[in-house]
Amino acid sequence: MEHLREHWGSRFGFMLAAAGSAIGLGSLWKFPYVAGDHGGGAFVLVYLLATLFICVPLFICELVMGRATQRGAVEAFSILSRQSQNWKGMGWLALTSTLVVYSYYAVVSGWTLNYVILSLSNFTAGKSPEEIRAVFDLLLKAGGMNLFWQFGFLLLTAAVVWGGVRKGIEHWAKILTPALLAILIALFFYAITMPGFHEALRFLLIPDFSKVTPSGILSAVGLSFFTASLGFGIILTYGSYLRPDENLPSMTVAILGSTLGIALIAALTIFPIVFSFGFSPSEGPGLVFKVLPVLFSQLPAPLLISTLFFLLLVFTALTSTVSLLENMTANCIEQFQWSRKKSIVLSTLAAFMLGVPSALAGSGQLFPSWQPIYNADFFATISTLWDRWFLPLSGLLISIFVGYVMDRQLRDKEFLGSSKASYLLPGWLFLIRYVVPIVLILLILEGTNLVSFDALIHN
Ligand code: PHE
Repeated sequence: MEHLREHWGSRFGFMLAAAGSAIGLGSLWKFPYVAGDHGGGAFVLVYLLATLFICVPLFICELVMGRATQRGAVEAFSILSRQSQNWKGMGWLALTSTLVVYSYYAVVSGWTLNYVILSLSNFTAGKSPEEIRAVFDLLLKAGGMNLFWQFGFLLLTAAVVWGGVRKGIEHWAKILTPALLAILIALFFYAITMPGFHEALRFLLIPDFSKVTPSGILSAVGLSFFTASLGFGIILTYGSYLRPDENLPSMTVAILGSTLGIALIAALTIFPIVFSFGFSPSEGPGLVFKVLPVLFSQLPAPLLISTLFFLLLVFTALTSTVSLLENMTANCIEQFQWSRKKSIVLSTLAAFMLGVPSALAGSGQLFPSWQPIYNADFFATISTLWDRWFLPLSGLLISIFVGYVMDRQLRDKEFLGSSKASYLLPGWLFLIRYVVPIVLILLILEGTNLVSFDALIHN
């Protein structure tokens, strides 16, 4: 079947959409608290190295595969492996990961929407800090509300993807990504004026190597990997809408460089507030949803600052969920020959249904015995399963595929594109053939508890 593939309207549009996918709750919600938990500067340094030596090469792998085939992950693996069913299965694994992650990512994204409405209704007024913090715990237990906001976020995402690559995704990326940047920079300038700014700078930028542990290193690698949206075939799909003359390595460095910059600015915005009020940097996942509202309530213009901040989170989550849904849609169109609209509706419904147990996880309304049996609620169980096993495994298989299986000439031609920088090719090949697989295997070993590197080092 001959099919006309839509292309990005401009290189800039693609870069905003890809950066929008990468910049998400991983950078703005998770990065600050995980960096806080692991002692700050040293974690940031490792994260930077992981982005450069693991994520950049893998990101290029996905772009190479997508552009070479002009297809989504399932077809791309099938075509490039000359119809091997096993490799095609890898495409399905990436797609399954997309569905699973979309289902629970939409729950957290729903919280951000909820907090915008809460902020607009001035929810901190007249509440003690303890009461403000307790709002988040109440929300976690409120099953119906979680479902409502999760569904709302899924609809919002579907509305963006509905318009297609150019009129939907690219159009909205051009609005949302700059808007997000503007809000973040405004809040950052505000944070600079706070007394805790210098302490935050020191905490985040000066590495204290006594705080580096092997498991800390691996969690930096894992987080940078998730942040770059790797292992889902998403970057592959976005790459499939690229024209043949684009230069993949330089675009990758620009996209991941700005993602890293945003994560750092986010942390440099949040920590001055935390330090100025004497809170601990290792607050865990509640850092953004529990601590910040308490602090906002003590600042001038709490309604404005808090609304802006949570709007920032909505935008950043939305450009990420858009990429998840587009990935499912593109593959459904190719695999089942459904129309775009049908693919969007069914993918949204599937994500909603699979997301129900995650949305209800905190309330204990569904599967009340899940927690005692698995030692974690449903949400935590599946997100850990994917973080530890399936995503690193996908990354490993992609690097092996591009490094050893895919046609060499095609691969090298796609890598170089219109650029003359052929001296970069051997470096990239070395990374995807040796460095990336070894690091990802270590990550899987640690994640499965087969080996504890912390214990090994202390013996
Ligand atoms: N990269 C996004 C983030 O950091 C998460 C994401 C993962 C988005 C996978 C799309 C696909 O939040």
